[in-house]
Amino acid sequence: MSRTFSVAAGRFSGQPMFNTLERVQQLERQGKSILHFELGQPDFPTPGNIVAAGITALQNSETRYTSSLGMYDFKLAVQQVTSHSRNFTPDIDQILVTPGANAIIYYAIKCLIDPGDEVIIPDPGFPTYVAAINACNGVTVGVELREAEGFRLQAADIEQCITSKTKLIILNSPSNPTGAAMSEREIRDVYELALHHDLYLLSDEVYSRMIFNKAAIFFSPSMIDHCKDRTLILNGFSKAFSMTGWRLGVAIGPGALIQKMGLLNETIVSCVPPFVQRAGIEAMLGDQAVVKRMYAEYRERCRLLVDGLNSLPGISCRVPDGAIYVFPNITETGMSSVEFAEYALDTAGVAVLPGNCFGAHGDGYIRMCYVNNQTCIREALSRLGKVLEGKKCR
Ligand SMILES: Cc1ncc(COP(=O)(O)O)c(C=O)c1O
Repeated sequence: MSRTFSVAAGRFSGQPMFNTLERVQQLERQGKSILHFELGQPDFPTPGNIVAAGITALQNSETRYTSSLGMYDFKLAVQQVTSHSRNFTPDIDQILVTPGANAIIYYAIKCLIDPGDEVIIPDPGFPTYVAAINACNGVTVGVELREAEGFRLQAADIEQCITSKTKLIILNSPSNPTGAAMSEREIRDVYELALHHDLYLLSDEVYSRMIFNKAAIFFSPSMIDHCKDRTLILNGFSKAFSMTGWRLGVAIGPGALIQKMGLLNETIVSCVPPFVQRAGIEAMLGDQAVVKRMYAEYRERCRLLVDGLNSLPGISCRVPDGAIYVFPNITETGMSSVEFAEYALDTAGVAVLPGNCFGAHGDGYIRMCYVNNQTCIREALSRLGKVLEGKKCR
């Protein structure tokens, strides 16, 4: 037997944004001044009360293994917030605590998808969906999100893609990368479709608290079936509470599926550190004043960035509903997404992601995260303005 990697290892692709980060860091090491809009990494520190809860847990020696599905107290907190935010109380055995939300995508797909099974995802959409589907030898079926429809996933488009091999539909509202939030009607239509064709729904709700457009709402398919039937919620603490490095996520789903995903969690990481879970309890139930201030600032930044982008030649940007991203259309600059991202980095020192990192239908767009302060946003807009002025736009 030769020393080769498994066939599965050949299918791993990870997250393309980390490659961009490598390139940007390399330029910074060479002394170039770069303004960062590429990674969905909030610039705010984790709120002090959450950090303090983690430290207290460490000082109380909460440093041992804990239940592989999550601490009981953490699950009680999840029950409490779910009953307020989504109007139902999941059973304790419907809840799984994970090291970040990303892991839930893989766990869900591994537990539901056999080789050749099809998963319907939004295109453009979060790259881990494709990476996890490929890792499990499933088939990705991207449904185009159109700017003319506010980038909101439409049940009619999904229906066209359903075959006898379809097993799962992934929803992400508000969305990364577009910031679009689906309406209650749109989510109910997708749920009806899933019911009719007997499919699972993975609802990626990591931005559920981050609705910044007054005209938009958050609605979850879990409000229909209470995660008893076919809906699996994926949620995380990274963005909502500025906790990217803590690695904390939570899944709520049908009990039998959660138990299987729990076995996978146990196999890979054993459990999530108890002091991290204590910090998570404080994030859910503690004082929300700092979090509210962060969100107010995101709202301001979003307005500043959208207005500024719309005043630049060749760029048009719709107002997102939520999350921490804008997804401007750059087709009138005459550049492809990749060309634009390289041009912005090389000539203006502004790091953005090309839209096609998120799927073929992301071409013609770039993604910018407003996780940088207003001074940096103004500076980036001014730099982009200067380098785009000289370019002939269509
Ligand atoms: C839509 C979406 N889902 C899941 C995740 C994963 O988040 P976490 O940091 O909790 O793994 C992200 C992170 O960017 C995301 O944008």
